[in-house]
Amino acid sequence: MERPGRALILGIETSCDETAAALVTADGEIRANVVSSQADLHARYGGVVPEVASRRHLELVTPVVREALAEAGATLDDVEEVAVTQGPGLIGALLVGMSAAKAIAWSRGLPLVPVDHLRGHVASLYLQPDPIEPPFLCLLASGGHTMLLDVRAHDDERVIGTTLDDAAGEAFDKGARLLGLGYPGGRELDLLAQQGDPAAYDFPVARVPGLDFSFSGLKTALLYATRDLTAAELEARRADLAASYQRAIVRALVGRVREAANGKRVAVVGGVAANSELRAALPDAALAPLALCTDNAAMIASAARYTVAVSYPGYLGLDAYASR
Ligand code: KG4
Ligand code: ZN
Repeated sequence: MERPGRALILGIETSCDETAAALVTADGEIRANVVSSQADLHARYGGVVPEVASRRHLELVTPVVREALAEAGATLDDVEEVAVTQGPGLIGALLVGMSAAKAIAWSRGLPLVPVDHLRGHVASLYLQPDPIEPPFLCLLASGGHTMLLDVRAHDDERVIGTTLDDAAGEAFDKGARLLGLGYPGGRELDLLAQQGDPAAYDFPVARVPGLDFSFSGLKTALLYATRDLTAAELEARRADLAASYQRAIVRALVGRVREAANGKRVAVVGGVAANSELRAALPDAALAPLALCTDNAAMIASAARYTVAVSYPGYLGLDAYASR
């Protein structure tokens, strides 16, 4: 196998419940992208348990890095810098990735690049084979965030709208839970919605000022629509409820994007960017590739290409942050 040369960025991502490592070249080609999801581990709790996540990251981070190196046909000799998610996310989970990255950087004499997770999601758009270039308007919709970003340069994005309560992915997950689907339920709700009638229920799209979002009222509307149904009735209406609920979320997202776009190019990133109805509703937008919508380390390595690296011993003092 051809040696990649000492030009790979090793990315590590452990901000929530995915342990991920990737190898990306300086011009944005993905050589390996390994994601180990802990979703099954958290499913029985109906959400991510931070302490359980940290412990699992600790077990998985080294094997996942090894697997990424093997997939790329590379060794640590081929790595020129180590990129790691610094925040936002679960502090204990982030610290596992940061410690692993510091240890690899120190032992190999490499610089370390601390990467913001949200900038990482945006940087999923800068990878080969179809990278796009700023400026653009970016909808970032994930389990933890829902934001409209005015992306002016690779390292310059301004938040012009955000959610006042739940994130869009959180709305999907809570809705899925009310409908008796697993956790995280976004993808399952998406699949179920394809068999339902989106006009069956008239769920509200919140009216909030400016370019912000709100999803908590919608979740309550679904709760009211389901709570008086018997198990058999719920079963019969589940697909219609899913389709109508999803329609309301997608309408809220697309409505805001249209208001903010003003002729600008639009891009969509984050876990919710995998939603089939959202993708279909924005045919002219640059959509993150499906494999790069949910959390991964290729996007972290990608963002590192536009972030200042920290050399030894400076990076030893870097701390994780829970919120921006
Ligand atoms: O970006 P991500 O992996 O994690 C965060 O940074 O939060 O996003 C995960 C979120 C979850 O809420 C999940 O239910 C949602 O993305 N998601 C979807 C779909 N696939 C994942 N939501 C709607 N439709 C999908 N197909
Ligand atoms: Zn994320």
